[in-house]
Amino acid sequence: MDKFPENFLWGTATSAMQIEGGYGSSRRGLNFNDMNTAGTRTSARMTSVVHADGTYEQYPMFSKDLPAGSKLVSIDGLYYPNREAIDFYHHYKEDIALFGELGLKVFRMSIMWSRLFPNGDEERPDEEGIAFYHSVFDELKKYDIEPLVTIWHSEDPVGLINSIGGWNSRKMIEHFDRYARTVLEEYKDDVRYWLTFNELNNGIMFLDWIKGSGDEKERAQTTFQQLHHKLIASAHTVKAAHEINKENKVGCMIAYAVNYPLTPAPEDNMKRIETAEWLNWYTADTQVKGRYPYFAEKIWNEHSVRLQMEENDLCELAQGKVDFFSFSYYSTSCVTAKEDYEVSGGNFTMGAKNPYLQYSEWGWAMDPSGLRYALNEIYGRYEIPCIVVENGLGAVDRIEEDGTIHDPYRIEYLREHIKAVKDAVNDGVDVFGYCSWGGIDEISAASGQMNKRYGFIHVDLDDEGNGSLKRRKKDSFDWYKKVIASNGEEL
Ligand code: BG6
Repeated sequence: MDKFPENFLWGTATSAMQIEGGYGSSRRGLNFNDMNTAGTRTSARMTSVVHADGTYEQYPMFSKDLPAGSKLVSIDGLYYPNREAIDFYHHYKEDIALFGELGLKVFRMSIMWSRLFPNGDEERPDEEGIAFYHSVFDELKKYDIEPLVTIWHSEDPVGLINSIGGWNSRKMIEHFDRYARTVLEEYKDDVRYWLTFNELNNGIMFLDWIKGSGDEKERAQTTFQQLHHKLIASAHTVKAAHEINKENKVGCMIAYAVNYPLTPAPEDNMKRIETAEWLNWYTADTQVKGRYPYFAEKIWNEHSVRLQMEENDLCELAQGKVDFFSFSYYSTSCVTAKEDYEVSGGNFTMGAKNPYLQYSEWGWAMDPSGLRYALNEIYGRYEIPCIVVENGLGAVDRIEEDGTIHDPYRIEYLREHIKAVKDAVNDGVDVFGYCSWGGIDEISAASGQMNKRYGFIHVDLDDEGNGSLKRRKKDSFDWYKKVIASNGEEL
């Protein structure tokens, strides 16, 4: 065959929290990301809280759970990049026109929960927020671009985090259900493809980051409990989507971790199997098969987790099976049963460094073959349609004196990964689309930087928030346009 299927969905992906901005110039409320400063390649984004006794504390984002009785706060004079982001809120017509020129078949975007429900607990959504996404969908329709909508891309309203402790509280499910149902009802004529939660498994990955911090046990308990609440909310959303419109297709979204055993030692291979269970399958099996996998009990016991469940929970999980599998893929790492190894970076994963691979400026392994493995592993396990909804290279771009931007490194990275998708198609995997991450430069999720760029479209904004926001096409823009127009034949 050696060809992509007809109607293959070529696209690019974004999230509301990383592109929209518009805080202060619209009625949207603050969400979790708005409360984090910009980091650098080597220093973390910082979260600020005020404790019950009135004292303030700043700590690296995700390094701890919000302490009980504390609230997220803003500190005057600090720069919070997600509040303005790249101002898609005011530039969406211009940006979607560029996506039209690129020839996109699908645009992955998320809805900002705190734009529809500024505090999170309102009974009715905000009309201005509702109207905004209607306008975005109308604009996409003009260019025949199919929206692929992530209902949650970590845009929890600060109001709910501060009042009930966010996903630690089971009450969060009710608030989310109201928000998700609103979205599904309101946009039922505009959207066919939905994702419930972005990278639902990445909370588990954060547990790797805090090894040795002393509070691993407490963090494991809150992480698995929060995840349980989100899995229930995801199942409710899938069920509601199917009730509201039978044509709706709903997917899970997993930060997919490909791990290789560092050596042929049998212990390293067992470690690989257990790492995949923990990082990928625990969450994915529950969303695809509608039940916790057989090894869940082992994981809970190993981490002394006592999951609080209600009587109907298992039944609700069974009713919320997804229709397709979506995932992000950036890099791979190695695992070993040994304690002592050279650690590599990566999208949340922190395995051992692979001596056979090249690493990006941010220390992420570049491994196109891993994407072919991922697609085969996923399809082999579930046999449901798959789509890659994030893949890309974060790199520093330079604007030449004549305003052009040459980014052969990005083209090379994407080309090799698209070839790997094609190989998987030839292996027989049912892949119906591919979205690069960040067709337009956006605020980096982990570092809060602007100069870690992924786009085909450059945005004039720096790491301190200075810039004209002017959009410029990079060389990769024309390259991807050709890829789409030739349905992946001209790479
Ligand atoms: C994924 C997220 O984890 O990785 C995106 O879903 C994120 O939101 C992407 O932007 C790349 O990570 P980063 O930190 O380089 O922006």
